[in-house]
Amino acid sequence: MAKVYQETAENIQILAKALQKGELVAIPSETVYGLAANAFDEAACRKIFEIKGRPFNDPLIVHLDSLSTLDQVAEQNQTVERLAKAFWPGPLTLVLPKKKSIPSLVTAGLATVAVRIPEHPVLQKLLQACQRPLAAPSANPFGYISPTTSAHVQESLGNKINYILEGGPCRIGIESTIVDLRDPSSPAILRPGGISDRAISAILDLPLDKPSVASKEKSAPIAPGLLHKHYSPKTHFILRSTPFTETALKNLQPKEAALCFKKPDDPLTASLENVFWLSESGSDEEAARNLFSKLRQMDTGPWESIEAELISETGIGNALNDRLRRAAAKS
Ligand code: TXA
Ligand code: MG
Repeated sequence: MAKVYQETAENIQILAKALQKGELVAIPSETVYGLAANAFDEAACRKIFEIKGRPFNDPLIVHLDSLSTLDQVAEQNQTVERLAKAFWPGPLTLVLPKKKSIPSLVTAGLATVAVRIPEHPVLQKLLQACQRPLAAPSANPFGYISPTTSAHVQESLGNKINYILEGGPCRIGIESTIVDLRDPSSPAILRPGGISDRAISAILDLPLDKPSVASKEKSAPIAPGLLHKHYSPKTHFILRSTPFTETALKNLQPKEAALCFKKPDDPLTASLENVFWLSESGSDEEAARNLFSKLRQMDTGPWESIEAELISETGIGNALNDRLRRAAAKS
């Protein structure tokens, strides 16, 4: 089993040294937990793919402690500065032309690298202590539900790794927004996430390509991992075309579970053992924070199927619906 390290100065040093020696460490972040390796170390990064069962055509995100280290891994442009000022450190990943220092294994052979400066204070300490950029995908077996607590990492990868850094439950709970900035005059959102497309286009003063447009219209998929079924529970998972009604919830079969956005108003309905919800109060942020945890909890229950409703597409609702749709995708 992996050992969970609390955030002490001594433990941060132990884990920084482990990373420098080419070992893997599961790290907290404000979005989801990641499985990290020194991004300059090809052999270490190869272990990430092996442990996750991740195909080698699905590139990794490189995490930096500050903007001053960006030059080591990617080519900058003026748009980077504007977005960095507004959203870094935070849940934004930028796809930029890569530098040679990053092994092509990390970027799946692409000429670009995805970079992010995370905000989580414990991860920041580790990045500063190890003085290396860290390549880190989410710390889950490929295709399964992302982890938002150290216990989630322990459950699904604990027998394959040695180190987990404790950082508490993730504040946002959904992965970073990925923006393609290869051409700064036509930025495109490749994956909706912790920062809304509206917030990004307000800073850029430019319209953005939507994810569906970006992935369908580019002749070759530039981010292959984004097109696949993902975030999937093992339990049969389906989406409703309309929101749940009290009657629909009361008529569930005993082996069917429902995942609602908000706690049902009727206390009798809310007390049904197969009725679950993402938010007590109807807050999109709370729902996003609870999504992966709730899916994991429901996936260990006795249900033959889980049915979920979508939420309103505004703000982080767009990213939350993206995860629900991909959880329900068949291929
Ligand atoms: O919030 C997050 O982004 C978390 C935390 C740990 O930082 N990381 C994360 O990594 O979600 P992962 O590996 O689960 O998803 C990264 C996705 C890949 O599936 C790929 O589609 C895209 O980022 N990506 C990585 N490098 C890329 C590149 N050079 N061009 C386009 N897309 C890229
Ligand atoms: Mg992932």
